[in-house]
Amino acid sequence: MRMYDIIDKKKNGMELSTEEIKEMIRAYVEEEIPDYQMAAWLMAVYFQGMSNRELKDLTLAMAHSGEMIDLSPISGIKVDKHSTGGVGDKTTLAIAPIVAACGEKVAKMSGKGLGFTGGTIDKLESIPGFETGLDQKTFFENVNHIGLSVIGQTANITPADKKLYALRDVTATVDSIPLIAASVMSKKLAAGSDKILLDVTCGSGAFMKTLEDAVKLAEIMVAIGEQAGRETVALITNMDVPLGETIGNALEVEEIIDLLQGNAKEDLKEVCLALASNMLYLSKYESDKNITLEDCKKMAEEKIQDGSALNKLKEMVNSQHGQVDAIENTDKLPQAAYYYEMVSDSSGYVTGMNAEQCGIASMLLGAGREKKDSEIAYGAGIRLLKKTGDPLEVGDTMAILYSDSYETFQEAEKVLRIAYQIGGEAPQKDKLIYVRVSKAGVEYY
Ligand code: URA
Repeated sequence: MRMYDIIDKKKNGMELSTEEIKEMIRAYVEEEIPDYQMAAWLMAVYFQGMSNRELKDLTLAMAHSGEMIDLSPISGIKVDKHSTGGVGDKTTLAIAPIVAACGEKVAKMSGKGLGFTGGTIDKLESIPGFETGLDQKTFFENVNHIGLSVIGQTANITPADKKLYALRDVTATVDSIPLIAASVMSKKLAAGSDKILLDVTCGSGAFMKTLEDAVKLAEIMVAIGEQAGRETVALITNMDVPLGETIGNALEVEEIIDLLQGNAKEDLKEVCLALASNMLYLSKYESDKNITLEDCKKMAEEKIQDGSALNKLKEMVNSQHGQVDAIENTDKLPQAAYYYEMVSDSSGYVTGMNAEQCGIASMLLGAGREKKDSEIAYGAGIRLLKKTGDPLEVGDTMAILYSDSYETFQEAEKVLRIAYQIGGEAPQKDKLIYVRVSKAGVEYY
């Protein structure tokens, strides 16, 4: 196999064979193919796409490029969840404890944030002492014992995705539907759960900017999961506006604790309940064919109301050496050294927001990573007091910015102001959940 020929074939829109794809991924991971050739191939895929067969082969080759985790030492059905990324996207922190409180098993590997999107691992590591690098034996024991554990993706899982993602990041090839599908699904297949729920975000703060593209991506990923024998469901959720009130690691943990205490912002609660009930449905349907999504939603709500989901979060924090008293008293979570109130200079309504710009503003405050090795400040971020649909008077505080470095406020405020669109009339309320995709088809809400 010559990489030159593979690039040329893809450039001309021809289909690659299973062998060619397998060999290309093996050779790239073993550094026999240089980045400049792989970058050319990625760009060819960006413009020419891939057939369903090629995509399945690519996903499997990437999944098998490292360890395929065998979760069989954990009893029962294991259910996983993955989001294609967003701003203020903190749902895993609530959903995993809710689902575990309902008796199901969540053995989850998550990633760190990069650029304007956040990562679950950074949010968890903002809890003092919390360890995300557990060995496999402890990870399995924790899930068997308390029903959940969330750890960082280990180095030996999907090395092909790690190399390819870093290359896509610097070659403007991240937002390609087949490349995202193969990246997400290779990780999910390697992580070993029986059932997979995908949160495909859609809007200004997501890779998929249109519903049409989001449906395409969701359908492809569900098909890959099903072909690999893992039941997979995708929800397409609104990421035009950051989810909930906060962006930033410790701020988001605090908001989730609030939610699990029954005091959530409506948008965050609705999305968390939709995701949690779909995870529960995937898991519980195996033993109860009469169960409905509505039953699962009620169960999830009960676990918030009776405090058992919050207790599960505390159990997880304790089992991963985090300080449980920081969950009981959120003043003990990391706090930024400074805050700054961004005040409105006009009146009317917030008619729209650019979630990506909000994410960038939060990154500038220190809450996110500009580069892979950037340090992050756990207490930094933004509290959005006004969001799309809210009325606004001159002098109202629109957002509170938090940072360890006072100098960051000026630039972050400039970016955040651009993120807000203000007009004279209240906008129409947008849906939060647009579509559900399963093996049964596409259901529009
Ligand atoms: N999330 C992933 O894991 N991979 C992508 O390519 C995009 C989002």
